[in-house]
Amino acid sequence: MMLPQGARVLEIASGAGQHGAYFTELRPDIIWQYSDVDTDAQESQKAYACENSSQLKLPLQLDVTQGNWWQRLEPITNIYCANMIHIAPWEAALGLAKGAGELLQAGDKLFLYGPFLFGVDSAQSNLDFTANLKQRNPVWGVRELVDVEELFVENGFYLDQKITMPRDNYLLVFRKR
Ligand SMILES: C[S@@+](CC[C@H](N)C(=O)[O-])C[C@H]1O[C@@H](n2cnc3c(N)ncnc32)[C@H](O)[C@@H]1O
Repeated sequence: MMLPQGARVLEIASGAGQHGAYFTELRPDIIWQYSDVDTDAQESQKAYACENSSQLKLPLQLDVTQGNWWQRLEPITNIYCANMIHIAPWEAALGLAKGAGELLQAGDKLFLYGPFLFGVDSAQSNLDFTANLKQRNPVWGVRELVDVEELFVENGFYLDQKITMPRDNYLLVFRKR
C-alpha cells in the first residue's frame, strides 16, 4: 500500500482535479486536499470536491514559488505532485522540495509523477518533449532525475522508489529521513 491508512494527502498543482477523484474512490479512508496556483483549475477541483466533500477538500490557492507557502496548512501525511516541475520554472521544484521538507515528518512519503531525463540515456520522447516545452517557455523543461534527486536529498528526503509508468513517465517516491 503506497499511502498509509487514513492518509491526509496534500496535492500540489491539482490541475483539473481528476487524480484526487480517482484516488479517493479507490481509498475511502483518505482525505485529499486540492491546491493550485491557477484559479481556472481550482474551479474544476471545486466541482469534484462538491461530489465527494467528505474526502476531497476545496482547493487551496498555493503557489510553490512563493516563500513560506507551506505555513498555516492543516497537518498532512503525504504530498502528491504530478506533471508540474517540467511545466513551471525550476523555482517551483525548489519551492516544492523546501515546503515538503518543512511539512512532512520522518518516514512520510512524497510522490512526484512525470517525465524525467536520464542524461545520455534519456528517452527520445522526453528529449522531444523538453525541446517543445522550451520553445513554449525557455524556463520550462523536463528535469534531469539526478538534479531532482539531489534537490530532495538537500531537503531531507531520500529516493525510496522509482516506478516506471506508461509513456516514459515515472512515479518517484521520496521519503523523509
Ligand atoms: C500540466 S498541469 C498538471 C495538472 C495535474 N497535476 C495533472 O497531472 O493532470 C500543471 C499544473 O501545475 C500548476 N502550477 C504551475 N506552477 C505552479 C506553482 N508555482 N505552484 C502551484 N501550482 C503550479 C498549473 O496551474 C497546472 O495546474
